Amino acid sequence: MKTFTRLLACAALVASAAHAQKFAGLAPAPPMGWNTWNTFAGNCSEALVKETADAIIANGMRDAGYTYIVVDDCWENKERDAEGNLVPDPAKFPHGMKALGDYLHAKGFKFGIHNCAGKTTCGGYPGGRGHEFQDARLYASWGVDYLKYDWCDHGTANGPETYRIMSDALRAAGRPIVFSLCEWGQSQPWRWAEPVAHLWRTTGDVAPQYAGVGERKWEHGWKTLLDMNVGLEKYAGPDHWNDPDMLEVGVTGLTFAESRAQFSLWCMLAAPLIAGNDVRGMSPEVRGLLTNRAVIAIDQDRLGHQGFRFRVDADKEIWAKELSKKEWAVCVLNTGDKPAELTLDMHELTFLTEQYYEVTDVWTGKPAGTANDPHAARVDSHDVMLFRLKPSS
Ligand code: GLA
Repeated sequence: MKTFTRLLACAALVASAAHAQKFAGLAPAPPMGWNTWNTFAGNCSEALVKETADAIIANGMRDAGYTYIVVDDCWENKERDAEGNLVPDPAKFPHGMKALGDYLHAKGFKFGIHNCAGKTTCGGYPGGRGHEFQDARLYASWGVDYLKYDWCDHGTANGPETYRIMSDALRAAGRPIVFSLCEWGQSQPWRWAEPVAHLWRTTGDVAPQYAGVGERKWEHGWKTLLDMNVGLEKYAGPDHWNDPDMLEVGVTGLTFAESRAQFSLWCMLAAPLIAGNDVRGMSPEVRGLLTNRAVIAIDQDRLGHQGFRFRVDADKEIWAKELSKKEWAVCVLNTGDKPAELTLDMHELTFLTEQYYEVTDVWTGKPAGTANDPHAARVDSHDVMLFRLKPSS
């Protein structure tokens, strides 16, 4: 009987290990922050991260919600040390990662880092395969709050199994760390990753262009990534977000209209808002985009519903996002390559349930009548109209 009880206890342990859960509740709203990759690629460094953090305080981004500062690929030495630990490149990070984490925490930020579920990262640095528990303990000792975990050099590894190991390792290391899964949507993580991760990439990489394939074939313009997210809205919600990749807002390659539209539509998607531009020298206009609180509020709305594409016309798309308190956000995108007079007849928005709505033009902050009024404007190519509808009596 004793042996039987022991067996039962063992079985319970194995079962609970197999169903280990992520740290719940770390991402009630889509994470917001900044990442080194889109502008600086392999040229990340302690100096860059500190200067960026200081700029994010000075320009108001931190107070608008951008709190995760993420060091992407290429922060490491090419080899682990004799004990098998990852080592930060001393030329790029002379004071090491714990010191960088301390700096960021003292300034009210959270510290994010990148690595890879394969043997090497996409940049050719040591990946985590086979070292998951050791690496998770190291990240915890550095004060890491967010781990972006990539998918290069994974060989024949299985996505769900591999990411579950790292999720378990983070859990075992004991520090609450947001787990940002980056396997490019290959094994449809929206179908299986909710217990494992707080967010998961749904696509390959974003390029600083409106649409189409980027210079590197795994990169696409943001509109192409947006299209790939159609239909995925049912899989997202508080603590489990679809991630259509980072913002290219303010990065050379996009027009101002395209930056504004990407920002608007990423907010409609309840996407993580991870800026990737050089915030140390951005224009007041770009800063105005990234820090517009009314637009950010659409992304961060506590209902946590991802918006959906309601309608596609020849040169126009209509996107809608349900918000808390029966409010709605509606975004109209000019998909044509010329400025156009766009009209939105809100009577056609069949998802609306209330009889009367007051409408606000979100980018200008100005009242825009009611849902019974016609809404028309001249909109630049690849720019948007963005409205917030509030029930009224
Ligand atoms: C992959 C990821 C990118 C970035 C690079 C770094 O391509 O999808 O977001 O992290 O690796 O090498």
